[in-house]
Amino acid sequence: MKQLLIIFGGISLISFFLTDCESSDRSVSPYPSIIFPEDNPSTQEKIELGRKLFFDKRLSKNNEIACASCHLPEYAFTDRLPVAQGVEGRTTERNAPSILNAGYLPTVMFDAHIETLEKQVIVPIQEHTEMDLSIKELLTKLRKVPAYQEAAKSIFGRDFDAWVLTRSISSFERSLMSLDSKFDRYYYQNDKNAMSASEVRGWKLFSEKLYCTECHTPPMFTTYEALNNGLYSDYGEDKGRFRIHNDSTDIGKFKIPSLRNITLTFPYMHDGSIGSLEEVLAHYSKGGNDHVNKDKRIVPFTLSNTEEKDLLNFMEALTDTSYMKDYR
Ligand code: HEC
Ligand code: HEC
Repeated sequence: MKQLLIIFGGISLISFFLTDCESSDRSVSPYPSIIFPEDNPSTQEKIELGRKLFFDKRLSKNNEIACASCHLPEYAFTDRLPVAQGVEGRTTERNAPSILNAGYLPTVMFDAHIETLEKQVIVPIQEHTEMDLSIKELLTKLRKVPAYQEAAKSIFGRDFDAWVLTRSISSFERSLMSLDSKFDRYYYQNDKNAMSASEVRGWKLFSEKLYCTECHTPPMFTTYEALNNGLYSDYGEDKGRFRIHNDSTDIGKFKIPSLRNITLTFPYMHDGSIGSLEEVLAHYSKGGNDHVNKDKRIVPFTLSNTEEKDLLNFMEALTDTSYMKDYR
Protein backbone atom coordinates (compact mmCIF):
# COMPACT_ATOMS: atom_id res chain seq x y z
CA MET A 1 0.00 0.00 0.00
CA LYS A 2 1.33 3.41 -0.89
CA GLN A 3 0.54 6.68 0.76
CA LEU A 4 0.49 9.74 -1.44
CA LEU A 5 0.35 13.19 -0.01
CA ILE A 6 -1.46 15.54 -2.33
CA ILE A 7 -1.59 19.23 -1.65
CA PHE A 8 -4.30 21.38 -3.24
CA GLY A 9 -3.94 25.05 -2.39
CA GLY A 10 -4.25 25.26 1.39
CA ILE A 11 -5.97 21.91 1.73
CA SER A 12 -3.95 18.78 1.73
CA LEU A 13 -5.33 15.33 1.95
CA ILE A 14 -3.83 11.92 2.21
CA SER A 15 -5.30 9.40 -0.16
CA PHE A 16 -4.60 5.76 -0.14
CA PHE A 17 -4.22 3.86 -3.36
CA LEU A 18 -4.25 0.15 -3.34
CA THR A 19 -1.55 -1.18 -5.59
CA ASP A 20 -1.41 -4.67 -6.86
CA CYS A 21 2.30 -5.50 -6.98
CA GLU A 22 1.94 -7.89 -9.93
CA SER A 23 0.01 -5.73 -12.35
CA SER A 24 0.41 -2.32 -10.68
CA ASP A 25 -3.30 -1.71 -11.20
CA ARG A 26 -4.65 1.13 -9.14
CA SER A 27 -8.12 1.41 -7.70
CA VAL A 28 -9.73 4.10 -5.62
CA SER A 29 -9.11 3.95 -1.87
CA PRO A 30 -11.84 2.39 0.28
CA TYR A 31 -10.88 4.68 3.16
CA PRO A 32 -12.16 8.20 3.66
CA SER A 33 -9.68 11.03 3.13
CA ILE A 34 -8.20 12.88 6.02
CA ILE A 35 -9.10 16.50 5.48
CA PHE A 36 -6.63 18.82 7.08
CA PRO A 37 -7.87 22.19 8.33
CA GLU A 38 -6.92 24.90 5.86
CA ASP A 39 -4.80 26.64 8.50
CA ASN A 40 -2.95 23.48 9.49
CA PRO A 41 -1.54 21.49 6.58
CA SER A 42 0.67 18.69 7.85
CA THR A 43 4.45 18.65 7.69
CA GLN A 44 6.96 16.15 9.09
CA GLU A 45 8.47 18.85 11.33
CA LYS A 46 5.07 19.64 12.88
CA ILE A 47 4.38 15.95 13.45
CA GLU A 48 7.74 15.50 15.21
CA LEU A 49 7.20 18.55 17.42
CA GLY A 50 3.69 17.29 18.24
CA ARG A 51 5.06 13.87 19.13
CA LYS A 52 7.55 15.41 21.62
CA LEU A 53 4.80 17.47 23.22
CA PHE A 54 2.43 14.48 23.40
CA PHE A 55 4.97 12.55 25.50
CA ASP A 56 6.06 15.55 27.63
CA LYS A 57 4.96 15.46 31.28
CA ARG A 58 5.70 19.17 31.63
CA LEU A 59 2.29 19.73 30.04
CA SER A 60 0.81 19.00 33.51
CA LYS A 61 0.82 20.99 36.74
CA ASN A 62 3.05 18.57 38.68
CA ASN A 63 5.16 17.42 35.68
CA GLU A 64 3.88 13.86 36.09
CA ILE A 65 1.21 13.46 33.43
CA ALA A 66 1.68 13.57 29.65
CA CYS A 67 -1.00 13.02 27.02
CA ALA A 68 0.70 9.62 26.61
CA SER A 69 0.10 8.77 30.29
CA CYS A 70 -3.56 8.15 29.39
CA HIS A 71 -3.07 7.39 25.69
CA LEU A 72 -0.30 4.73 25.71
CA PRO A 73 0.99 3.59 22.30
CA GLU A 74 1.19 -0.09 23.33
CA TYR A 75 -2.52 -0.17 24.19
CA ALA A 76 -3.59 1.50 20.93
CA PHE A 77 -3.31 4.86 22.75
CA THR A 78 -5.63 3.93 25.63
CA ASP A 79 -4.69 3.19 29.26
CA ARG A 80 -6.38 -0.07 30.37
CA LEU A 81 -8.13 1.71 33.25
CA PRO A 82 -11.94 1.89 33.55
CA VAL A 83 -11.67 5.67 33.92
CA ALA A 84 -8.50 7.63 33.28
CA GLN A 85 -6.29 9.06 36.05
CA GLY A 86 -4.75 12.51 35.94
CA VAL A 87 -2.58 14.58 38.30
CA GLU A 88 -2.39 13.43 41.94
CA GLY A 89 -4.38 10.31 41.15
CA ARG A 90 -7.56 12.31 40.40
CA THR A 91 -10.01 10.28 38.37
CA THR A 92 -11.85 11.45 35.29
CA GLU A 93 -15.39 10.26 34.71
CA ARG A 94 -14.64 8.53 31.42
CA ASN A 95 -12.56 5.85 29.74
CA ALA A 96 -9.68 7.11 27.58
CA PRO A 97 -10.48 6.34 23.92
CA SER A 98 -7.96 5.23 21.31
CA ILE A 99 -6.64 8.08 19.21
CA LEU A 100 -5.38 5.91 16.34
CA ASN A 101 -7.06 7.08 13.11
CA ALA A 102 -8.10 10.27 14.95
CA GLY A 103 -7.63 12.16 11.68
CA TYR A 104 -10.94 10.69 10.48
CA LEU A 105 -13.01 11.99 13.41
CA PRO A 106 -15.71 14.38 12.15
CA THR A 107 -16.25 15.42 15.78
CA VAL A 108 -14.16 14.74 18.85
CA MET A 109 -15.05 13.32 22.35
CA PHE A 110 -17.76 10.88 23.49
CA ASP A 111 -20.32 13.71 23.30
CA ALA A 112 -19.39 14.25 19.63
CA HIS A 113 -19.33 18.00 20.17
CA ILE A 114 -15.81 19.39 19.56
CA GLU A 115 -15.27 20.19 15.87
CA THR A 116 -11.52 19.76 15.50
CA LEU A 117 -8.53 18.04 17.07
CA GLU A 118 -6.96 21.50 17.36
CA LYS A 119 -9.73 22.64 19.73
CA GLN A 120 -9.56 19.45 21.79
CA VAL A 121 -5.88 19.82 22.79
CA ILE A 122 -6.55 22.56 25.34
CA VAL A 123 -9.27 20.57 27.16
CA PRO A 124 -7.20 17.92 29.02
CA ILE A 125 -4.43 20.42 29.78
CA GLN A 126 -6.76 22.74 31.70
CA GLU A 127 -9.05 20.05 33.16
CA HIS A 128 -8.71 19.76 36.96
CA THR A 129 -8.76 15.94 36.92
CA GLU A 130 -6.37 15.57 33.98
CA MET A 131 -3.33 17.88 33.64
CA ASP A 132 -4.64 20.87 35.64
CA LEU A 133 -2.47 23.56 34.08
CA SER A 134 -3.64 26.92 32.77
CA ILE A 135 -2.49 27.76 29.27
CA LYS A 136 -0.75 30.85 30.64
CA GLU A 137 1.33 28.78 33.08
CA LEU A 138 2.00 26.19 30.40
CA LEU A 139 3.31 28.72 27.90
CA THR A 140 5.55 30.36 30.49
CA LYS A 141 6.99 26.94 31.27
CA LEU A 142 7.45 25.69 27.70
CA ARG A 143 8.92 28.91 26.30
CA LYS A 144 11.88 28.30 28.58
CA VAL A 145 12.58 25.01 26.78
CA PRO A 146 15.03 26.02 24.02
CA ALA A 147 14.09 23.09 21.72
CA TYR A 148 10.40 24.12 21.74
CA GLN A 149 11.07 27.81 21.31
CA GLU A 150 13.47 27.10 18.41
CA ALA A 151 11.03 24.69 16.72
CA ALA A 152 8.20 27.24 17.05
CA LYS A 153 10.37 29.89 15.37
CA SER A 154 11.57 27.67 12.55
CA ILE A 155 8.28 25.87 11.76
CA PHE A 156 5.69 28.56 12.52
CA GLY A 157 7.81 31.73 12.53
CA ARG A 158 6.51 32.77 15.98
CA ASP A 159 7.14 32.28 19.71
CA PHE A 160 5.90 29.06 21.27
CA ASP A 161 2.23 29.78 21.91
CA ALA A 162 -1.21 28.12 21.96
CA TRP A 163 -1.28 28.11 18.14
CA VAL A 164 2.00 26.20 17.93
CA LEU A 165 0.93 23.82 20.70
CA THR A 166 -2.46 22.92 19.24
CA ARG A 167 -1.35 22.79 15.57
CA SER A 168 1.60 20.53 16.24
CA ILE A 169 -0.13 18.08 18.62
CA SER A 170 -3.07 17.68 16.26
CA SER A 171 -0.71 17.15 13.29
CA PHE A 172 0.91 14.34 15.28
CA GLU A 173 -2.53 12.85 16.03
CA ARG A 174 -3.48 12.90 12.34
CA SER A 175 -0.34 10.89 11.58
CA LEU A 176 -1.47 7.98 13.80
CA MET A 177 -2.82 5.53 11.28
CA SER A 178 -3.78 1.91 11.79
CA LEU A 179 -5.40 0.46 8.68
CA ASP A 180 -3.47 -2.71 7.99
CA SER A 181 -5.36 -5.33 9.99
CA LYS A 182 -6.05 -8.86 8.78
CA PHE A 183 -9.53 -7.62 7.89
CA ASP A 184 -8.10 -4.84 5.68
CA ARG A 185 -5.95 -7.34 3.84
CA TYR A 186 -8.82 -9.79 3.43
CA TYR A 187 -11.55 -7.35 2.51
CA TYR A 188 -9.86 -4.43 0.77
CA GLN A 189 -6.68 -5.97 -0.56
CA ASN A 190 -8.35 -9.14 -1.74
CA ASP A 191 -6.02 -11.46 0.16
CA LYS A 192 -8.38 -14.36 0.76
CA ASN A 193 -5.89 -16.10 3.05
CA ALA A 194 -5.50 -13.12 5.38
CA MET A 195 -8.36 -14.24 7.65
CA SER A 196 -8.99 -17.73 9.04
CA ALA A 197 -12.25 -19.58 8.32
CA SER A 198 -13.47 -18.76 11.83
CA GLU A 199 -12.67 -15.03 11.41
CA VAL A 200 -14.54 -14.97 8.08
CA ARG A 201 -17.56 -16.66 9.68
CA GLY A 202 -17.37 -14.05 12.47
CA TRP A 203 -17.39 -11.23 9.89
CA LYS A 204 -20.50 -12.72 8.23
CA LEU A 205 -22.22 -12.89 11.61
CA PHE A 206 -21.19 -9.33 12.49
CA SER A 207 -22.34 -7.89 9.17
CA GLU A 208 -25.18 -10.16 7.99
CA LYS A 209 -26.86 -12.19 10.74
CA LEU A 210 -26.48 -9.52 13.42
CA TYR A 211 -26.87 -5.77 13.13
CA CYS A 212 -23.44 -4.59 14.29
CA THR A 213 -22.46 -2.91 10.99
CA GLU A 214 -25.51 -0.62 11.28
CA CYS A 215 -23.43 1.41 13.72
CA HIS A 216 -19.93 -0.10 13.60
CA THR A 217 -19.77 0.36 9.83
CA PRO A 218 -16.58 -0.42 7.88
CA PRO A 219 -14.06 0.82 6.98
CA MET A 220 -13.75 2.68 10.30
CA PHE A 221 -16.24 0.45 12.16
CA THR A 222 -18.19 3.48 13.33
CA THR A 223 -20.56 5.99 11.76
CA TYR A 224 -19.28 8.51 14.36
CA GLU A 225 -22.86 9.31 15.46
CA ALA A 226 -23.73 9.65 19.13
CA LEU A 227 -26.32 6.97 19.98
CA ASN A 228 -27.77 5.13 22.99
CA ASN A 229 -26.83 1.43 22.96
CA GLY A 230 -28.90 0.56 26.04
CA LEU A 231 -25.93 0.41 28.38
CA TYR A 232 -28.10 1.53 31.32
CA SER A 233 -31.75 2.04 32.21
CA ASP A 234 -30.59 4.97 34.35
CA TYR A 235 -27.42 6.75 33.24
CA GLY A 236 -26.92 8.44 36.63
CA GLU A 237 -24.52 11.42 36.63
CA ASP A 238 -23.04 11.00 33.15
CA LYS A 239 -25.88 11.33 30.65
CA GLY A 240 -23.58 11.69 27.66
CA ARG A 241 -24.42 14.14 24.89
CA PHE A 242 -27.37 15.42 26.95
CA ARG A 243 -24.95 17.78 28.69
CA ILE A 244 -24.24 19.68 25.48
CA HIS A 245 -27.79 20.85 24.64
CA ASN A 246 -29.87 19.65 27.65
CA ASP A 247 -32.08 17.82 25.18
CA SER A 248 -33.67 14.77 26.86
CA THR A 249 -33.59 12.79 23.60
CA ASP A 250 -29.78 12.90 23.95
CA ILE A 251 -29.69 11.10 27.32
CA GLY A 252 -27.38 8.09 27.18
CA LYS A 253 -26.01 8.97 23.74
CA PHE A 254 -22.27 8.52 23.27
CA LYS A 255 -20.17 8.64 20.11
CA ILE A 256 -19.97 5.13 18.61
CA PRO A 257 -16.38 3.96 19.13
CA SER A 258 -14.40 2.44 16.27
CA LEU A 259 -13.84 -1.28 16.82
CA ARG A 260 -10.38 -1.20 15.25
CA ASN A 261 -7.80 -2.62 17.69
CA ILE A 262 -10.69 -3.50 20.02
CA THR A 263 -8.88 -6.43 21.68
CA LEU A 264 -6.19 -3.99 22.87
CA THR A 265 -8.47 -1.31 24.27
CA PHE A 266 -10.31 -2.94 27.19
CA PRO A 267 -12.14 -2.09 29.39
CA TYR A 268 -15.03 -0.93 27.22
CA MET A 269 -17.75 1.74 26.94
CA HIS A 270 -17.57 5.45 27.89
CA ASP A 271 -17.11 4.55 31.57
CA GLY A 272 -15.01 1.41 31.16
CA SER A 273 -17.77 -0.56 32.88
CA ILE A 274 -17.52 -3.68 30.69
CA GLY A 275 -14.29 -5.62 31.14
CA SER A 276 -14.27 -8.08 28.25
CA LEU A 277 -15.64 -8.62 24.76
CA GLU A 278 -17.52 -11.71 26.02
CA GLU A 279 -19.41 -9.40 28.39
CA VAL A 280 -20.02 -6.89 25.57
CA LEU A 281 -21.63 -9.70 23.56
CA ALA A 282 -23.73 -10.67 26.60
CA HIS A 283 -24.93 -7.04 26.75
CA TYR A 284 -26.04 -7.00 23.11
CA SER A 285 -27.45 -10.54 23.07
CA LYS A 286 -29.91 -9.66 25.81
CA GLY A 287 -30.91 -6.62 23.72
CA GLY A 288 -29.28 -4.12 26.10
CA ASN A 289 -31.17 -2.46 28.95
CA ASP A 290 -34.47 -0.67 28.45
CA HIS A 291 -34.21 3.07 27.92
CA VAL A 292 -36.52 5.38 25.97
CA ASN A 293 -33.58 6.51 23.85
CA LYS A 294 -32.17 3.04 23.21
CA ASP A 295 -31.65 2.59 19.49
CA LYS A 296 -34.43 0.41 18.05
CA ARG A 297 -31.95 -1.73 16.13
CA ILE A 298 -30.60 -3.24 19.34
CA VAL A 299 -32.66 -6.39 19.85
CA PRO A 300 -31.93 -9.74 21.59
CA PHE A 301 -30.24 -12.63 19.76
CA THR A 302 -28.73 -16.00 20.58
CA LEU A 303 -25.37 -17.34 19.47
CA SER A 304 -24.00 -20.87 19.65
CA ASN A 305 -20.63 -21.31 21.36
CA THR A 306 -18.94 -21.61 17.97
CA GLU A 307 -20.64 -18.46 16.70
CA GLU A 308 -19.53 -16.52 19.76
CA LYS A 309 -15.95 -17.71 19.27
CA ASP A 310 -16.12 -16.76 15.56
CA LEU A 311 -17.35 -13.29 16.41
CA LEU A 312 -14.57 -12.78 18.96
CA ASN A 313 -11.97 -14.04 16.46
CA PHE A 314 -13.31 -11.61 13.86
CA MET A 315 -12.99 -8.67 16.26
CA GLU A 316 -9.41 -9.71 16.98
CA ALA A 317 -8.75 -9.58 13.21
CA LEU A 318 -9.32 -5.80 13.43
CA THR A 319 -5.96 -5.43 15.19
CA ASP A 320 -3.09 -3.61 13.45
CA THR A 321 -0.08 -2.70 15.55
CA SER A 322 2.17 -1.71 12.64
CA TYR A 323 2.09 1.88 13.98
CA MET A 324 4.19 0.58 16.93
CA LYS A 325 7.30 0.60 14.73
CA ASP A 326 7.72 4.24 15.78
CA TYR A 327 7.69 3.37 19.50
CA ARG A 328 9.93 0.35 19.90
C1 HEC B 1 -5.91 12.00 32.59
C2 HEC B 1 -5.98 11.21 31.36
C3 HEC B 1 -5.90 11.94 30.04
C4 HEC B 1 -4.92 12.81 29.62
C5 HEC B 1 -3.72 13.33 30.39
C6 HEC B 1 -5.26 13.14 28.25
N1 HEC B 1 -6.40 12.50 27.85
FE1 HEC B 1 -7.23 12.51 26.02
N2 HEC B 1 -8.86 11.63 26.75
C7 HEC B 1 -9.01 11.14 28.03
C8 HEC B 1 -10.41 10.78 28.24
C9 HEC B 1 -10.99 10.21 29.53
C10 HEC B 1 -11.10 11.09 27.06
C11 HEC B 1 -12.59 10.97 26.79
C12 HEC B 1 -13.22 12.30 27.21
C13 HEC B 1 -14.64 12.48 26.74
O1 HEC B 1 -14.98 12.03 25.66
O2 HEC B 1 -15.41 13.14 27.44
C14 HEC B 1 -10.08 11.60 26.12
C15 HEC B 1 -10.36 11.95 24.81
C16 HEC B 1 -9.39 12.37 23.91
C17 HEC B 1 -9.62 12.57 22.49
C18 HEC B 1 -10.93 12.33 21.75
C19 HEC B 1 -10.92 11.03 20.98
C20 HEC B 1 -12.25 10.73 20.34
O3 HEC B 1 -12.44 9.60 19.86
O4 HEC B 1 -13.14 11.58 20.27
C21 HEC B 1 -8.44 13.03 21.96
C22 HEC B 1 -8.16 13.38 20.52
C23 HEC B 1 -7.50 13.12 23.05
N3 HEC B 1 -8.10 12.69 24.22
C24 HEC B 1 -6.21 13.62 22.94
C25 HEC B 1 -5.45 14.00 24.05
C26 HEC B 1 -4.29 14.88 24.01
C27 HEC B 1 -3.74 15.53 22.76
C28 HEC B 1 -3.84 15.01 25.28
C29 HEC B 1 -2.71 15.87 25.80
C30 HEC B 1 -2.79 17.30 25.51
C31 HEC B 1 -4.70 14.19 26.12
N4 HEC B 1 -5.67 13.61 25.34
C32 HEC B 1 -4.52 14.02 27.48
C33 HEC B 1 -8.00 11.02 28.96
C34 HEC B 1 -6.84 11.77 28.93
C1 HEC C 1 -27.38 1.40 17.41
C2 HEC C 1 -25.96 1.47 17.26
C3 HEC C 1 -25.14 0.28 17.70
C4 HEC C 1 -25.24 -1.03 17.29
C5 HEC C 1 -26.27 -1.63 16.37
C6 HEC C 1 -24.14 -1.74 17.92
N1 HEC C 1 -23.40 -0.88 18.68
FE1 HEC C 1 -21.72 -1.36 19.69
N2 HEC C 1 -21.67 0.56 20.45
C7 HEC C 1 -22.57 1.56 20.17
C8 HEC C 1 -22.32 2.69 21.04
C9 HEC C 1 -23.07 4.01 21.03
C10 HEC C 1 -21.25 2.33 21.87
C11 HEC C 1 -20.62 3.17 22.98
C12 HEC C 1 -21.53 3.19 24.20
C13 HEC C 1 -20.91 3.83 25.42
O1 HEC C 1 -19.75 4.24 25.39
O2 HEC C 1 -21.58 3.94 26.44
C14 HEC C 1 -20.87 0.97 21.47
C15 HEC C 1 -19.82 0.26 22.03
C16 HEC C 1 -19.40 -1.00 21.60
C17 HEC C 1 -18.20 -1.66 22.03
C18 HEC C 1 -17.17 -1.07 23.01
C19 HEC C 1 -16.23 -0.15 22.25
C20 HEC C 1 -15.23 0.55 23.14
O3 HEC C 1 -14.16 0.93 22.61
O4 HEC C 1 -15.50 0.79 24.31
C21 HEC C 1 -18.14 -2.87 21.39
C22 HEC C 1 -17.03 -3.90 21.51
C23 HEC C 1 -19.31 -2.97 20.57
N3 HEC C 1 -20.06 -1.81 20.71
C24 HEC C 1 -19.62 -4.06 19.77
C25 HEC C 1 -20.83 -4.21 19.09
C26 HEC C 1 -21.27 -5.43 18.48
C27 HEC C 1 -20.50 -6.74 18.49
C28 HEC C 1 -22.48 -5.18 17.93
C29 HEC C 1 -23.42 -6.15 17.24
C30 HEC C 1 -23.91 -7.22 18.08
C31 HEC C 1 -22.79 -3.77 18.19
N4 HEC C 1 -21.76 -3.22 18.92
C32 HEC C 1 -23.91 -3.11 17.76
C33 HEC C 1 -23.55 1.51 19.21
C34 HEC C 1 -23.97 0.36 18.58
